[in-house]
Amino acid sequence: MTVVLRTIAEARAWVRAERGAGRTLGLVPTMGALHEGHASLFRRARAECDRAAISIFVNPTQFGAGEDYERYPRTWESDLRMAEREGVDAVFYPEAGEMYTEPPLVTVHPGKLGKTLCGPSRPGHFRGVATVVAKLFHILQPDRAFFGQKDAQQVIIIQRMVTDLNFPVAIEVCPTVREPDGLAMSSRNRYLSAEERKNATILYQVLRCAETMFKGGVRDSSRLEQEMERQIQEMIRATPGAELDYARVVDRWSLQPMGAIDREALVAVAVRFGKTRLIDNLILTPEE
Ligand code: PAJ
Repeated sequence: MTVVLRTIAEARAWVRAERGAGRTLGLVPTMGALHEGHASLFRRARAECDRAAISIFVNPTQFGAGEDYERYPRTWESDLRMAEREGVDAVFYPEAGEMYTEPPLVTVHPGKLGKTLCGPSRPGHFRGVATVVAKLFHILQPDRAFFGQKDAQQVIIIQRMVTDLNFPVAIEVCPTVREPDGLAMSSRNRYLSAEERKNATILYQVLRCAETMFKGGVRDSSRLEQEMERQIQEMIRATPGAELDYARVVDRWSLQPMGAIDREALVAVAVRFGKTRLIDNLILTPEE
């Protein structure tokens, strides 16, 4: 049985009962439009905790002006069915007015972690994410919370928030779930035209190419960046409306530029297809 919690008071009562009975709680925050990537996190939460809760909340404060807040897919009925099928114990599904009775004055700023990669094209986005995740942690008080590597910058920021602000929650990072052709699953993939969907495989292709070069001994991060850019630009010339946002190799933890790849690196790409922005990434680990 999956219980649906519509208010903060209901959520707190449920959490109090479960924690009072000595059960551990896993949380998977989502914005709905659930797919197999989300389901993989639900399964981890179920496997590692006595109770698995998810939240479904399209968080207005992480969308910029002109972004897709209004048209973001809202698929409550099928989301609930997936939660039931996956054995999720509780779904926290609040209205925007329940989460934000008024615009917040006190928020969580991710500092320079929010300024690189996706930061410049999404000002304020990571502040909105960190703030809503802090709120969800306080409302649902999970022992563990599960996030996807798909959103690499987001999960680094959440990890730093939890460390720097002493949140009593363990952050678990789960691998990116992909379509058979390599495209990372995303609620936004449904916006793509057939042509764009076909060309969207470029993101994973250039990541794999960078990985191959790295395994072949290339340690210069800018060489990898240049090669990824070159390949993406080639695709873009043949795809009307496509645009490169970034193709970067950065320090995995600080997200700052690195010269030689002598420690864990995050290879991250973002490409726009019309109004739809897709991201993907992978980690490079030098041998000890
Ligand atoms: P959303 O995009 O719905 O993603 C919810 C969680 O699912 C995130 O942790 C995300 O990284 C993970 N996820 C998405 N696609 C995935 C894939 N293909 N493989 C593995 N995991 C995947 O991310 C958000 O929502 C929001 O920013 C949120 C954290 C809920 C705050 O509003």
